[in-house]
Amino acid sequence: MLTQRPRGTVDILPGEVRVWHRFEHLVRQLFSRYGYEEIRTPMFEHTELFARGVGETTDIVEKEMYTFQDRGGRSITLRPEGTAGVVRAYVENKLYGEPGVAKLYYVGPMFRYEKPQHGRQRQFHQVGVEALGSDDPALDAEVIALSWRLLEALDVQDITIELNSVGCSECRPVYREQLIAALRPVADRLCKDCQQRLGRNPLRVLDCKQASCRAVLDEVRPPLLPDAWCDACRTHHDEVRSHLRALGLSWQDNPRLVRGLDYYTRTTWEITHPQHSTVIGGGRYNRLVAEVGGPETPGIGFAGGVERIFAAMGDQSEMPLRDGVFVAIADSAAALIATRLLEQLRGAGLRADRDYQGRSLKSQLRQADRWGARFAAILGEAELAQEAVTVRDLTEGTQTLVPLDQAAEIMRERMTRE
Ligand code: HAM
Repeated sequence: MLTQRPRGTVDILPGEVRVWHRFEHLVRQLFSRYGYEEIRTPMFEHTELFARGVGETTDIVEKEMYTFQDRGGRSITLRPEGTAGVVRAYVENKLYGEPGVAKLYYVGPMFRYEKPQHGRQRQFHQVGVEALGSDDPALDAEVIALSWRLLEALDVQDITIELNSVGCSECRPVYREQLIAALRPVADRLCKDCQQRLGRNPLRVLDCKQASCRAVLDEVRPPLLPDAWCDACRTHHDEVRSHLRALGLSWQDNPRLVRGLDYYTRTTWEITHPQHSTVIGGGRYNRLVAEVGGPETPGIGFAGGVERIFAAMGDQSEMPLRDGVFVAIADSAAALIATRLLEQLRGAGLRADRDYQGRSLKSQLRQADRWGARFAAILGEAELAQEAVTVRDLTEGTQTLVPLDQAAEIMRERMTRE
């Protein structure tokens, strides 16, 4: 027990943390290009915030929260997601008093008591954004595009945007009744969870993954959300689509997409991967700020599971994240030159290291690879004779001979260009 981590958690070891740093760096750069700034909210909040915000009848609130009483007798919950906390902070700190749309992002651990399995942990990490203060469909499209660009920048392949609108407080109640009426006669054939959902949160039946429920839905063909959109929701959605087209994005309409959290109004989307299910999920939430006690303020955002993003990157996950230079010494006469080169590399702001155990060139190169170097700088007899160094690009597998006095600058240049 003492040497075992709790189920559903992982240790992120030093080699992996480097990958996380690179990922976070890329995220920060990308998000700041779109005008987002980081916000850090507490790891735990009053339970009430999630119960009200995420929704009493959602799986998250009903089954998955880490809730406990603190020593003062308050009910506290480890955050299962980031949106509710960000919205609470937005209201509490009166960020709505500042001009323009508040564009906020976060990266950090979330906690859900779920059955651990592939892509599902009890402590996992989300990277997310929230944009508060506008109902403009152009913003919906921009936020969707940002979620796509994030995965694109990481070279994640085989992904699809699934898009829907869950309507608003005008049209959704009408739809809800239609859905209940259509499913009630076949309720006994739905899974146990869905039988309960039908009375409390019937929309969730639509995206149940159980084969029995999918079969019933295929047979009964209940009305779908788009059939019930009010004019305002339809217009909004059409405009979101026009902006997405203008951004050059393609997507698949998924009229059954409802998402697992209750705060959504109108636009919802997921970016899915055939092996790693939903990598990113998001949507608009025009009622949430008011729901937690702030002024009526529309919002929209998304969150991606960092571990799932890494999984979807597959073999790629190491490749674009290589950095630094490993100086490999192939001739003992190069010792002093190596010392000087290392100093130049570090002075140029690069991560740089070498072997200190007199290993063979082959094992030094293996070490460079394990260390995550982008370049191996090889100093051997031939290089010494020409006052040069062989720069092997471990990502591209190419190598060039460059003059020693320019080597650090050339490598720095090549790394920052990307
Ligand atoms: P969510 O769909 O519950 O949305 O979670 C977003 C993403 O977090 C999922 O698509 C998945 O990649 C990851 N995730 C969720 N649960 C786990 C888990 N147990 N293990 C590993 N990864 C997981 C939200 O949380 C919303 N707050 C998103 C949002 C932001 N909507 C508007 N703004």
